[in-house]
Amino acid sequence: MRQAKAHQKELFGPDNVFSTPKPENLMQRILDLSTTEEDLVLDSFAGSGTTGAVAHKMGRRWIMVELGEHCHTHIIPRLKKVIDGEDKGGVTEAVGWQGGGGFRYFHLAPSLLETDKWGREVINKAYNAEMLAEAMCKHENFTYAPSDAVYWQHGHSTERDFIYVTTQTLGPDQLQQLSDEVGPDRSLLVLCAAFRGAADRWPNLTVRKIPSHIKNRCEWGHDDYSLKVENLPKASPRPEPAPAPTHQKAAGQPDLFGGKGGGK
Ligand SMILES: C[S@@+](CC[C@H](N)C(=O)[O-])C[C@H]1O[C@@H](n2cnc3c(N)ncnc32)[C@H](O)[C@@H]1O
Repeated sequence: MRQAKAHQKELFGPDNVFSTPKPENLMQRILDLSTTEEDLVLDSFAGSGTTGAVAHKMGRRWIMVELGEHCHTHIIPRLKKVIDGEDKGGVTEAVGWQGGGGFRYFHLAPSLLETDKWGREVINKAYNAEMLAEAMCKHENFTYAPSDAVYWQHGHSTERDFIYVTTQTLGPDQLQQLSDEVGPDRSLLVLCAAFRGAADRWPNLTVRKIPSHIKNRCEWGHDDYSLKVENLPKASPRPEPAPAPTHQKAAGQPDLFGGKGGGK
């Protein structure tokens, strides 16, 4: 135990908030008994990241989830040392670990929908217009590219297919005006809080309400919540000055809103 504490002190300094660190060799024993190489180890309360660090050194794949800031203060620096072969403590020697591998880091946005006091699903107030437009573009596989000149062009899927996201309730007059501006050679997906009139009246517009539309595309209420790992988006560099979220072979993954706030 004294050795484990010394290892944690070496990793995180004297002000380490974790007063009861799990010794790496205890975790090694657990993983030895319950997993084999390449297995996936999940710790959804990651803390200082001992589970992931040991799993990594033992050639297991891992997923860690953490609510607090320890992700930046503890876990990422610790796993970087493991990967760089700079963490000489814990089970490093026992398992013959010399470094290697990598990881991806995702910062989760707050839930897009929340329930209001009447039990209706509404757009979370934490989302400003820009965040909402970017989130909806991601959901719809549109490229987020708001136009300075055309207010309804928030993104595009092709040169002629655009998306417009608004928290307004749109009436027939506004939809008609949109349809006129889009014209016969282009199409527009309109995602709004609500609309009045028949949505199929304009052939160049597809009009949908955001809350019900999002709800239909989520897994909520289904029995199968399996994570489709092959559908994960490709990692791309995270803009500075946000802290480097990934390491080595796996490049950085921008958070949903380019690092502009949100929950974990
Ligand atoms: C005691 S630590 C975990 C220690 C770690 N699993 C180990 O074996 O050394 C518990 C951690 O869970 C995190 N946590 C608590 N609730 C959470 C939640 N709902 N989602 C993710 N992390 C959470 C806390 O922030 C804390 O860092």
